[in-house]
Amino acid sequence: MNDKQRVAVHAAQQVHNGMLLGLGTGSTANFFIEALAERVQHENLQIQVVSSSVVSAIKARSLGLSLLAIEQIERLDVYVDGADEVTPDLDLLKGRGFDLVREKLLARASDAFWVLIDSSKQVEKLGQNFPIPIEVMPWAWRLVQRNLAMIGGEAQLRPNGDGLCVTSHGSLVLDTVFAHEIDAKPLNDQLNDIPGIVEHGVFKDLASAVFCAHEGCIDERWA
Ligand code: A5P
Repeated sequence: MNDKQRVAVHAAQQVHNGMLLGLGTGSTANFFIEALAERVQHENLQIQVVSSSVVSAIKARSLGLSLLAIEQIERLDVYVDGADEVTPDLDLLKGRGFDLVREKLLARASDAFWVLIDSSKQVEKLGQNFPIPIEVMPWAWRLVQRNLAMIGGEAQLRPNGDGLCVTSHGSLVLDTVFAHEIDAKPLNDQLNDIPGIVEHGVFKDLASAVFCAHEGCIDERWA
């Protein structure tokens, strides 16, 4: 079992009967879905889930989890997802996959948001290892790119083979590198203020807990 699997199993152990859970997207979220399905099958755990992406929905359904559509829910007990970067303040960078809208919607609709990482995801500042993913209305990308340049960001459309990445909502993704060190709060505010941005990968003050696996041990940090 690798660290991503281990932290996923650890989180699945903390799920109780009757919970409505949000499922994230990515390899760690996939391990969590598997661990959850295992408990449902072998311990008769009674839960319902809602998914942050088509991929996670397909996986959840194929493993027999009881899946609700996002339109059917008003709130969640817990949203569980991975992250690309996590700071000591529990600010997150997400979005190497690119369904940011659903991910942030579910994170905000939840009473708790558990973030599952291995220690390679820990950083001092956001943007240390990855550009900031910014989902934009397809016809707005040039104007958003210009707005980002005005706050020190160099934004490039994320490629996909010979074409461009298109999200499941039909948005494009501008992967953006900032020349200066990033402070999550002002950047979050600035990005929220630019018209044409559908959503972005800075998750500020959303995580309730980060479960981090390192060489077999799990560290829990609660907000
Ligand atoms: C999905 O858009 C992302 O935010 C993922 O949660 C993130 O990339 C972590 O992925 P892994 O669990 O595959 O490392």
